[in-house]
Amino acid sequence: MTETPPAGYRRPDGPEKLTGTARYAGDTTAAGLDPADHAALVTAAVPHARIASLDIEAALAAPGVTAVLTAADLPPMALETPFPLGQPLLPMHGGLAARVRYEGQPLAIVLAATGEQARYAARLVRAEYDRTEQVRAFEGAEDAVPRVNITPPEEERGDLGAGLAAAHTTVRETYETADRHHNPIEPSATHARWEGDRLTLHDSVQSITGTRDALAAVFGVRPEDVRVICPFTGGGFGCKGFVWPHQVLAAAAARAVGRPVKLVLTRAQMFTACGHQPRTRQTVTLGADEEGRLTALEHRSVNASALDGDHGEETTPGSTWMYASPAIRVRRRVRHLTRAMPTPMRAPHEGPGMFALECAMDELAWATGLDPVELRLRNEPEADPMSGLPFSSRKLRECLRTGAERFGWAERANRAPEPRSWREGDELIGWGMAAATMETFPPGPTLARVGVDRGGRIMVEAATEEIGTGQPAMIATIVGEVLGVRPEEVRRLEWGDSDLPDTPITAGSTSTMGLGSAVHAAAVKLRGMLETGDRPGAGEELVAEASWRPDTTERAGYSTHTYGAVFAEVRVDEQLGTVRVARCTGVYAAGRIVNPLAARSQMTGGMAWGIGQALLEDSRFDERFGRFTSKNLAGYVVPVNADVPPPSALDVSFVDDHDPVASAIGAKGIGELGAVGVAPALVNAVYHATGVRVRRLPVSVPDLVG
Ligand code: MOS
Repeated sequence: MTETPPAGYRRPDGPEKLTGTARYAGDTTAAGLDPADHAALVTAAVPHARIASLDIEAALAAPGVTAVLTAADLPPMALETPFPLGQPLLPMHGGLAARVRYEGQPLAIVLAATGEQARYAARLVRAEYDRTEQVRAFEGAEDAVPRVNITPPEEERGDLGAGLAAAHTTVRETYETADRHHNPIEPSATHARWEGDRLTLHDSVQSITGTRDALAAVFGVRPEDVRVICPFTGGGFGCKGFVWPHQVLAAAAARAVGRPVKLVLTRAQMFTACGHQPRTRQTVTLGADEEGRLTALEHRSVNASALDGDHGEETTPGSTWMYASPAIRVRRRVRHLTRAMPTPMRAPHEGPGMFALECAMDELAWATGLDPVELRLRNEPEADPMSGLPFSSRKLRECLRTGAERFGWAERANRAPEPRSWREGDELIGWGMAAATMETFPPGPTLARVGVDRGGRIMVEAATEEIGTGQPAMIATIVGEVLGVRPEEVRRLEWGDSDLPDTPITAGSTSTMGLGSAVHAAAVKLRGMLETGDRPGAGEELVAEASWRPDTTERAGYSTHTYGAVFAEVRVDEQLGTVRVARCTGVYAAGRIVNPLAARSQMTGGMAWGIGQALLEDSRFDERFGRFTSKNLAGYVVPVNADVPPPSALDVSFVDDHDPVASAIGAKGIGELGAVGVAPALVNAVYHATGVRVRRLPVSVPDLVG
C-alpha cells in the first residue's frame, strides 16, 4: 500500500509478537516453567440431564494418564462472590456435581504427561445420563425480566401512543442478530501452581486482578496469595473478561494432586466454555412527522440466555440517547434456555442494538423520501432525550457531515436514487450508511507507577494485560508527553503481573481512560518531584505512584458516549447472491485520540469485525439437542483478508474531540465503537444495491437470490 500511515507510536511489543518470542499462557512449558501435568476436560454431550454414572476406568488405564478427577476429588470451593465469574454455577461442584445444565459443562478432568494423552483419555470417560427434562428452545420460551443489568431494562419518557398517533410515517419492523462466538486466535489456557496456600496462575485473561480476586474467594485464600501473570492475551473480545469454570477447575486440579497443572481449551470447547454473543430479536417502531422529525421511538428486545445465567444483551440504551423524540420507550427481556452462558462480545449492547435502530432509521429514510444523513441530522437532540442531561461531548453531526464528504455520499442521489438502479456487469452496487454509538463505561479505580533512574531511564509499572489493543504504546505516549520525551524513550514498561499496581478489567473500551489517566497522574507527580529538586540516588529510582478513578458525581451529571458515522459500498453478484464490501468510511468522535496509528488499526479491526457480523458469523445452534453445532473455524466463518477491503479502501478518521468528563486525559474509548454501525451500513447498502431488505443477520445467499 502506498498510503501514508497516520502519525503515532509503533507498538513497542510488536517485535516480540512478530518474532514469536512473546509468551502466552499456553507457552509456559516452553518458557522453562516447571513441568506440569497436562489437563483435558471431559465435557457433557447433552445440555440437560442427571448424571447417572461416570466410568473413568478406561481413561485411567490410558497411556500417560496420571489422574482422572471427578467432583469428589476436588478441594472445597466457595462461590460467594459471583462477580467477576462468568456464570453463577460452578461445574463439578454443588448442584452441578450430579446434574448437567448446559452442553459442554465439565464433568471430569483428566491429567496426563502430555496434552495429547490427556485429550485422548478424556474421550474414554463414559457418562451415562438420565435425560428427564426437555430442551428449552428460543421459540416458545417465556420472556423474563433480566435480573442483572447495567442499564434499566425498561425506560420510558413521553406518551408513545400519542407520538405514534401524531406520526405521518411509521416504521415497525423486527430485526434479528445471530449467535456469535468470540474465537480469539489464542484459546483460553491456564497454568496453575500451588505452593502451600499460595497460587500462581499463568492465564489468558482480560483481567489479571479480577482473576486473582475471584480465585482467592473461591479457594478461601487472601488475594495477595494469588499471583496472576499474563503479559499477552491473544485476543479476548470479551470471552476472557470474566472468570470461567475452566480456570477454577485447573487451579482446583493442581491443588488436588499437589502438582502444577496446565489446561489449554480445545477450539471446540471455546464454543461452550467462555461465553458467546446470544441471538437477539428486536422490534423497533419509529413514528415521524412530515419533515422526518421523530414523534415516537420504541425499541423492544429479547435475547437468549442460559438456564441459570442472566446475561441480558443490552441492545436498547443507544435508543435512549441517539435521537430526539418526544416519546421514547425501551424494553428488554431474556429467555432462559438450555445452552451455555452468553457473555459480552465486542461490541456488546450497541453492536446488536444499533443494527436494529440504524436499519429502522434507513427504512424510515426511504419511507419519507429523506436522505438518511439528513434524517439523522434532523433528529439530533440538544440534550439526552431520555435523561434530559447535557452531553459531555457529542460530535455526531461532525461525524455525519465529514463522513458523507469523505465518502462522496451526495453522489448517491444522482447516480442511483432508487434501490436496484446501479449495475456494473453482473454486479449490483449499493451505498449505505449508519450512525454508531457506544456507552462510555466509567473505568474502575486504576493504579500506576512511573519512575526514573539516575541515567534518565523511565519506567512504568501497572498490572494490566495487553490484549492486542496497544496499551504499551498508549502508556509510553502519555508518559513521554508529560515528561517531555519521545515515547521511544519510555523503555522500561512492566505489565502483565498482579504483583504490579492494580488495574481494572481490560474491557468495555475503558483502558485508555482509566490506565491512561492513572499513568498521566503518576507522570505528573514524578515531574513535580523532579521540579522541586528530587533526584534519584546512585542505583536508585525516583518513583511516583498515583491512582485515578472517574468522578462519579460529575459523571452522573452528563450523558457521556462515543459516536461515529459509517458509510459503505457493497457489490452484490446478482446470480450468486454474494456480497463483497468494496470500501468503507468511518468517522468517529471518541474524545482525545492518544495514538492515531493504533487508533486507526483499532477502527479498521472494528470494520472487519462488523463485516463478520453482517455477512458471515452465525453460530448454528441445534434447538432439538441444545447444542452449538459448528465448533471450529470451518463451520463458523470469520472474515479473512479476502473478505475485507484493502487498507487503502478503509477510510478511518477522527473528529477533534476532548471529553474531560470521561477521563483526565480527555479520552473516551474506541475499542468497541469501531465494531458498531458497520453491520447496519452494510445491510442498508445491500438494500440500496438489490432492493431486498434483510432484517436477520448474517445476510445469506438465499436472502438475495431465493
Ligand atoms: Mo469487551 S466485550 O468489554 O471485552
